[in-house]
Amino acid sequence: MRILIVHGPNLNMLGKREESVYGRQTLDQIDALVGKEAQALGVEVVTFQSNHEGALVDFVQDQAGSAHGIIINPGALTHYGYSLRDALVDSKLPVVEVHLSSIYRREEWRARSVIAPIARGQISGLGWRGYMSALQVLVAQLKEEPPRQGP
Ligand code: DQA
Repeated sequence: MRILIVHGPNLNMLGKREESVYGRQTLDQIDALVGKEAQALGVEVVTFQSNHEGALVDFVQDQAGSAHGIIINPGALTHYGYSLRDALVDSKLPVVEVHLSSIYRREEWRARSVIAPIARGQISGLGWRGYMSALQVLVAQLKEEPPRQGP
């Protein structure tokens, strides 16, 4: 089983960026923890970060055919990234949205996600552990579900 782990704009700055909001872990550290968890669960993860919406769309388009699910922290694209949302819909894969901070306890504009309505679920405000939980739940659910029809 292959899960895409997608990180949007500015998440490459984790560790240097608003530590009190996003925590001290760098993106490399989070990806390493997710990789370890994936190994324990017996699944493969492919991680990708970009500051550009089009690059994220390209990645989802390129990888969707050989993947089984997507875990995504879209960064600020959460709030207005319609082309990313469309790419996620077109992937036909189950999507779990993750946020390190709680998008509901910050500025009003962050409380709206254009991704949430097309996601299977959302984890927000639990820091880096949110990625772990997302991976555990998604993998458990996919193992229970009948295999999806390929393109
Ligand atoms: C974020 C929340 C977004 O509002 C913000 O723009 C980010 C990170 C989070 O993980 O808490 O870049 O997605």
